[in-house]
Amino acid sequence: MANATPKVILPRVQAHRGAKGVRPENTMASLREALAQGVSWTEFDVKLSKDGIPVLYHDQDLKRTSGLEGLVKDYTFAELQDFEAGAWFDEAYKGEKIPSLEEVLKFHIDNGLHANIELKPSDGEEKETTKAVVDLLDRIWPDHLPKPLFSSFKRDSLEVARDIAPDYPRGLLIYDDLSNWQTHAKNLNCSTIHLWHKMFTPELIAEIKQLGYGIATYTVNEVDRAKELVAMGVDSIITDFPGNTLEALEAE
Ligand code: G3P
Ligand code: MG
Repeated sequence: MANATPKVILPRVQAHRGAKGVRPENTMASLREALAQGVSWTEFDVKLSKDGIPVLYHDQDLKRTSGLEGLVKDYTFAELQDFEAGAWFDEAYKGEKIPSLEEVLKFHIDNGLHANIELKPSDGEEKETTKAVVDLLDRIWPDHLPKPLFSSFKRDSLEVARDIAPDYPRGLLIYDDLSNWQTHAKNLNCSTIHLWHKMFTPELIAEIKQLGYGIATYTVNEVDRAKELVAMGVDSIITDFPGNTLEALEAE
C-alpha cells in the first residue's frame, strides 16, 4: 500500500536563502537575520561537498558568491571552509563561511524554526544528495519536532526522498513548465507545489487546491504582489524580505 501523504501546514512567509535581501544568501548571518525578522520558516539550498557533506550553496560554481573558479562539488568540506561566503555581498559580512547543513539544522532545532530544505544537487548527484541529507536528519533531527519539508526541481532527488524518508513532506518545485505537473506530484506523493509566482492563474490555483496540495510561491519581494497572491489563494510566500512581507500580510 502507498504511504500516506505527509501533512504540512505551510506558513504565510518563508525566508528565501535566509534574509537574502539584506544578508549574504545561505549563510548563518542570513538565517539569524531571518529569525530576527520573525519568520517561523526558512528556505535554503543544499548540495554536497566533494567528500559528501551537505552544505548550503545555491550555484553549482563558486564564482558569484565566493569569487573563485571551480565547482562546489570539487572541493572537500574542509577546503570550502577556507572560502568566502559574505564579502561579495558587503565587506561587513567578510568572513561568513559556507555553512554545513548540520550547523544549520542545529540552529533550527535550537530556535524552533521550520526548514524548507531545497535539494539543489550538483549535476549527477541527484540521488546521493538526498541520501546524505536524510542520513544527517536521521542522526540529529529530534523525533518530537515537525519534519522539515524537502523541495526540489529535481524529481530524481524527490523520488529518493519518497522512497527512503516517506514521512518527510515533499514539495514539487516548478519554474515555468507546467507539463504533467499533476502526474509528477502524484508519483512523488507530494504535499505541496512551489511555483514561480508569474505562473499562477485563478484556474490553476483552484486545480492545485482541489487536488489537495499546499501552495507556495517564489520569489516575491513586492508586498503588493504578495498580498495579491495570498488573495488569490496562495498559502505561502517565499521572499528575500521576510520581515516586510510578514508585516504587510499580517496587516491584512
Ligand atoms: O524554493 C524556492 C526557490 O528557492 C527556488 O529557486 O533558484 O532561488 O533556489 P532558487
Ligand atoms: Mg532555493
